[in-house]
Amino acid sequence: MAEVAGGTLSLRWIVLTWVTIYIMTTEAVDRSNFKTCEQSAFCKRQRNVKPENSPYRALLNSLEVTEKSIKLQLINEVNKVPLLLEVYGLQGNMTRIKINELNPLKPRYEVQDVLVQDPPTVPLTVMGKDEGSVELGFGNGLYKLIITSRPFRMDIMTGNELLLSINSRGLMVFEHLRKRKDSYTEKFSSTVGSMWSKIKNVFISEEKKEENVQSEEMKEATKAGEEETAQGDQPEGKDSQKESEEKEDEAGMWEETFKTHTDSKPSGPSSVGLDFSLPGFEHVYGIPEHADNLKLKTTDGGDPYRLYNLDVFQYEIFNPMALYGAIPVMLAHNVRRTLGIFWLNAAETWVDISSNTAGKTLFGKMLDYMQGANEIPQTDVRWISESGIIDVFVLLGPSPFDVFRQYTSLTGTQALPPLFAIAYHQCRWNYNDEEDVRNVDAGFDEHDIPYDVIWLDIEHTDGKRYFTWDSNKFPNPKDMLQNLDSKKRKMVSIVDPHIKIDSGYRIHNAIQSRNFYIKTKDGSDYEGWCWPGSAGYPDFTNPEMRSWWASMFAYDQYEGSMDNLYTWNDMNEPSVFNGPEVTMHKDAVHFGGWEHRDVHNLYAFYVQMATADGQIQRSGGTERPFVLARGFFAGSQRYGAVWTGDNSAEWDHLKVSLPMCLSLGLAGVSFCGADVGGFFKHPSPELLVRWYQAGAYQPFFRAHAHLDTPRREPWLFGEENKQLIRTVIRERYTLLPFWYTFFYRAYRTGEPVMRPMWVEFPGDVDTFSLDEQYMLGNALLIRPVTEQDARGVQVYMPGKGQFWYDVRSHQRYTGPQMLYVPVTISTIPVYQRGGTIVPRKERVRRSSSCMQSDPYTLYVALNAQNAADGDLFVDDGHTFNFEKRREYIHRKFTFANNSLTSRSADPNGHYNTAAWIERVLVLGARRPSSVVIKLSDGSESSLDFEHNAETSVLTIRKPAVNVGADWTLYIR
Ligand code: GLC
Repeated sequence: MAEVAGGTLSLRWIVLTWVTIYIMTTEAVDRSNFKTCEQSAFCKRQRNVKPENSPYRALLNSLEVTEKSIKLQLINEVNKVPLLLEVYGLQGNMTRIKINELNPLKPRYEVQDVLVQDPPTVPLTVMGKDEGSVELGFGNGLYKLIITSRPFRMDIMTGNELLLSINSRGLMVFEHLRKRKDSYTEKFSSTVGSMWSKIKNVFISEEKKEENVQSEEMKEATKAGEEETAQGDQPEGKDSQKESEEKEDEAGMWEETFKTHTDSKPSGPSSVGLDFSLPGFEHVYGIPEHADNLKLKTTDGGDPYRLYNLDVFQYEIFNPMALYGAIPVMLAHNVRRTLGIFWLNAAETWVDISSNTAGKTLFGKMLDYMQGANEIPQTDVRWISESGIIDVFVLLGPSPFDVFRQYTSLTGTQALPPLFAIAYHQCRWNYNDEEDVRNVDAGFDEHDIPYDVIWLDIEHTDGKRYFTWDSNKFPNPKDMLQNLDSKKRKMVSIVDPHIKIDSGYRIHNAIQSRNFYIKTKDGSDYEGWCWPGSAGYPDFTNPEMRSWWASMFAYDQYEGSMDNLYTWNDMNEPSVFNGPEVTMHKDAVHFGGWEHRDVHNLYAFYVQMATADGQIQRSGGTERPFVLARGFFAGSQRYGAVWTGDNSAEWDHLKVSLPMCLSLGLAGVSFCGADVGGFFKHPSPELLVRWYQAGAYQPFFRAHAHLDTPRREPWLFGEENKQLIRTVIRERYTLLPFWYTFFYRAYRTGEPVMRPMWVEFPGDVDTFSLDEQYMLGNALLIRPVTEQDARGVQVYMPGKGQFWYDVRSHQRYTGPQMLYVPVTISTIPVYQRGGTIVPRKERVRRSSSCMQSDPYTLYVALNAQNAADGDLFVDDGHTFNFEKRREYIHRKFTFANNSLTSRSADPNGHYNTAAWIERVLVLGARRPSSVVIKLSDGSESSLDFEHNAETSVLTIRKPAVNVGADWTLYIR
């Protein structure tokens, strides 16, 4: 007994020390905790292969055309390993290219559950074929794909224009699964003694068994390769790729050590790599998550962008290091077209970018142009993943919106959040007890600041046992939740996906007894350190585990929970404090026998999926969930929101939050935000105010702070700062109808809510590299002030003859121009684009739900043609009835010929609401002599109005029509 107690004590001590070190030690990221490409054996091997003739050859005689795809064998002329290439034409201007081993020693992992369906195909037709190439047509003859045999490459063209080439630089490397060479095992055996020879014997007899099964097929494929080789030229002398193929026991192939961790690599080398060339493209974007600029940089001379979900303590900004989430989709854009590359692989991935124009100054480019020497700009991209197969979707656009539609037709669109979730959230680590929660909640009322959700971090639990409450601090969670509910407010509690190993903990016992924990390579339950100390990691890749987890959110399972309690899934990369690179060992074993290596970047996705399902189920399928997660993958947009993790209260962190969320939006995830105020450190009042001003215009708007920071509720920084913060939170609430409508559009079409300027102005190169400003929907240009002591900022207003209206002064500007805007601490440069209509609710109350039936004000901003349009989506704000019963209103407002019309944008939707239109503001209007409203029953009435000659704003009072009605306003 004494020993046990002592053991527990020392365990606690270790955890505490670890956590303290984790929190307190360094000022910035400890880079040595994370691998560079050079330290990641497969990345190094692949990157050592330099552009030259590829050893791969397409065996055109093996061409097989099926209803859905074409199949073709590829052969590596050096090692003779046959590969299978499959090409699919997909509906909606996409193509899918898969390359796998024809006869792998065992199946290679193919990503599951990310695609929403088997993508519908269109027939590929063979347009031509000779001994050197085959030409395929798809997309109604609009596109052709040419496969060249020797060396293997693919080119996608439209008409005579080359859009994209694959393996044109010869960087394809497909490491086939292989048996460990005897020389290696022998070398190894001398060091580990006789134990190894026993294992080896077992290994060899297994090998024999398998060899028998494989040999016939292998022989045939190899023969096919040899025959073709014999017909053609012999491959030229050795090149680096060939050399590396031959190195069967290079360091890091069968075992790799990083710091104190050894990766046993039971399957040996298995990486895949492929290059893409994009002629005519100088700008590429996407592949979140990196704390970097929106336009991706070339990676020559540095590390590639890394995609590997990691918990990076005090991350550095403006660099390509991996962060919490990974979405392997990249967009390329030029003035004529947008393309996408979606690399569907969940293993550790690196992306190299190079460009023939990189480093050339504008002058250099001009000189080229004048001398007639300007080569076509080109971006080259190389993707490298540790395992799995090559499975890549080429999204052919041609517009940015086409690419969004294409990508989200594959991986799903943004889930429509419940309305409260896009309002303001108040969080810190931690709100300490029920009284603290009550006081903070009351503080918002006292200071007349709206907020919707208060959050509880890990300290609310009984010793970091998720799904429980600390009974001293939170003895009556239901009363607390009911109190919030009486004000139509919500709460979020944290439920992390690591489970305290404790035989007295119900959740742990249930997972253990069901055998749901991830296993070590030796078959025991994997244990790692996280907040609770020693923890197990539920295997979320197992569908049974996920459905069990989901059932834990039922009201009778999660004691003290209620329908206004929602969930925060943190640490889902997964974070393992004592694991390699603060995450899980790659040789850990998941459901189906897959290694963690194969599924690492998918783990977070599954955690959020299971939690969202749990919330849906607890309401019997009626209520929409809200789940915030830190780690994510392609498709995570279907399950909730993400945030940019543990940033710092520093100006540059505020700055980088913009491109970070913009990149996520391009990759399908609209619901993104950054900790307002910065997580680490204490912001100056100026930084805090500026952060609120920026955060109010980002999709997920939550203040959060580290445990060790001083309190920072909005009223703690003096009256003036409180008023500034209050003003901008209220502005957020007035704009909720606009936000909600664009979230609905994201849900319908995949278009990002918060979007780079170039998405709206695709033909204007001056927008292509803008990080500091962006568009909300198609209508609002936001340029938050992210500089300390700013006296003014530059705002680029694109569009020839495009009007832009300052939303506060209503002053009008005409694009294109670079406007210098003088700013004070109360200025937030926001402009409404001429030609748009923005709906608002201007009676701000204490939470968004309290405003449900409140009336609307329409802001009509006229363009040079005196026209504008916009839309509005309305439903109950929280259920799936908009989907299941079509209970919604989608209105289209059109201003033309001096009249404003409201019509249904979607006759399928119906919803009864008391909300009405209380005001219409027309920006850029002349003074009318009368304003008359005509209803659908033919009745007409004149309305009061006011015209401000100085600002050209026409304010029309009380149209007093229901928001769902058809009407026309005549302005005469
Ligand atoms: C992680 C999260 C942070 C949270 C903390 C404690 O660092 O990123 O937001 O407050 O864990 O749960």
